[in-house]
Amino acid sequence: MCGIIGYIGNRNAAEVLVRGLHKLEYRGYDSAGICVFSKGHLDVIKTKGRLDKLEQRLSGTSLESTLGLGHTRWATHGEPNDINSHPHLSQNGKIAVVHNGIIENYRQIKEFLCDKGVEFQSETDTEVIAQLLAYHYKGDVMRALMTTLGELEGAYALGVMCADYPDEFFAARKDSPLIIGLGKGENFIASDIPAILEYTRDIIIMEDREIVHITRGQAKLYDLLGKTVKRGVFHVDWDAEAAEKGGYEHFMIKEISEEPRAVRAAISPRIRDGLIDTGLSALSDNWVRNIKKIHIIACGTAYHAGLVGKYAIEKVARIPVEADLASEFRYREPIVRKGDLAVVISQSGETLDTLMGLREARKRGAKILSIVNVVGSSIARESDAVIYTWAGPEISVCSTKAYNTQLAALFSLAYDLGFRKGKLSFAGMMAAAKSLLGLPELIEKVLLNREIIQKFSAQHFNAQSVFYIGRGIDFALSSEGSLKLKEISYIHSEAYAGGELKHGTIALIEKGTLVICPITQDNLLEKTLSNVREVKARGAVVMAVTPERLAGAVSDVADAVITIPDTDSIFAPIIAVTPLQLFAYYVSVMRGNDVDKPRNLAKSVTVE
Ligand code: F6R
Repeated sequence: MCGIIGYIGNRNAAEVLVRGLHKLEYRGYDSAGICVFSKGHLDVIKTKGRLDKLEQRLSGTSLESTLGLGHTRWATHGEPNDINSHPHLSQNGKIAVVHNGIIENYRQIKEFLCDKGVEFQSETDTEVIAQLLAYHYKGDVMRALMTTLGELEGAYALGVMCADYPDEFFAARKDSPLIIGLGKGENFIASDIPAILEYTRDIIIMEDREIVHITRGQAKLYDLLGKTVKRGVFHVDWDAEAAEKGGYEHFMIKEISEEPRAVRAAISPRIRDGLIDTGLSALSDNWVRNIKKIHIIACGTAYHAGLVGKYAIEKVARIPVEADLASEFRYREPIVRKGDLAVVISQSGETLDTLMGLREARKRGAKILSIVNVVGSSIARESDAVIYTWAGPEISVCSTKAYNTQLAALFSLAYDLGFRKGKLSFAGMMAAAKSLLGLPELIEKVLLNREIIQKFSAQHFNAQSVFYIGRGIDFALSSEGSLKLKEISYIHSEAYAGGELKHGTIALIEKGTLVICPITQDNLLEKTLSNVREVKARGAVVMAVTPERLAGAVSDVADAVITIPDTDSIFAPIIAVTPLQLFAYYVSVMRGNDVDKPRNLAKSVTVE
């Protein structure tokens, strides 16, 4: 939700900001803008639309500045238009602000300031911050910032410039991500590392309720009371190219192609001497042996991974698992007891609903184990133990390789828990470890079949509505397949448990309706084939995704069959999801959509 960047150094600030915004555009792309310090005042250039529009506006200008802030927006308060775009200036033109997050008490502050005669230009909550800062500013920005932050409720990552400060800027965070990049004679802030990786690999990850004061020579961290804070520097060791398209047409297809490598990276460090170890001992072996219940908390794709995780953990470790959408968990007064484990899943590690779910679970007595991709993110930092998924940067808004690696982590966790709880023999554990290690190669094989999926997509990219049906773990998988399709193709799509169709939804099936059906579980084969027959009898066209060993039986019933290599049925979703992702991808491309930046969405959802 919104990307922010700040720069001070000796380069042309506008250029640095726009280059950085390109790397952050996945976070929001309704509008974009920059503010630079130029000839003694703050110059703001901003516009509705994508970054290319901002670049057009900038092309005619000669902004000679070495200090500035930039922003790319995902609108929350006020429609995407020029005025609501960031940066926002205070009425007196002294203070400029870029913001990611939501200020919950902005109405009250706005009323207060209006009473004092302040006139607002935009409908945004962010302008309230700029005006409040200007109201409190009596010549000392740091002091004004501390006072202002003390009055804000909600989430923010902020960049602040002041017309009286030509050689410095400020930033602050609470519940929205923000990092500081340390260069030589230049320093940066950004919402995410790729934005500044071409300039520096030395990063400080800001914590909640911290302010940073940045000059060319240094970045000084403070708490909200102005006390100095010391923090270690984190050296980024992944390559900038990992966050580039590298010859692929879209990030999404690049990231799908990276799945074998990503899954290998997620699994292999956890297998030692043939045994799976996810680092649960950080919670103490005795505590783990006595876990009574597991709560999985996540959103979107991560939640769908959690649904698969529920099946796997219950089956292997025999521990009861509830999987909750994070946005629901928090407000349903969940029954969480001391001795319960909350498994919090998030690619970004910054999703606000998920972070709040984590805090709710902790408040109610659970220990927290998170499955996270972004190292040092808020969710990782607030957890008792972390399983990093090592998927590498995921830029496409539509999540793909993150899901496969979340499944890899959840399967590893299921077996690790099962073994520690004595539900699994040594031989069983060794066999599972061997199967897990073989998964990347199987995904490689699926990727070799991409042309078959492309052809199938060409036949169906004009579909009006697509249903995904499955039973058991295949229902969880169907939910993910359906989300992929609707998210980037804008085709209406629903996922249903196969057995549930006859309770209402089958009324929607008519001649030509496309139904996609993963059938990966031997014990559910016959039941699922009955569901396929039911929809075919009503005119549906059925594409099934099934392992080689079941392909014969399935092809007798389905219209098209995508085969995946055989593996233990519990692990099948990690392979079977790839054709579903590819189908959504090709359909989106054929419909001429912006695959990596689908409408109305943003990558990291740091608002409630
Ligand atoms: C879908 C998608 C979203 C995210 C969800 C959670 O393709 O990307 O549904 O999965 O917003 O995000 P994280 O995993 O970052 O918490």
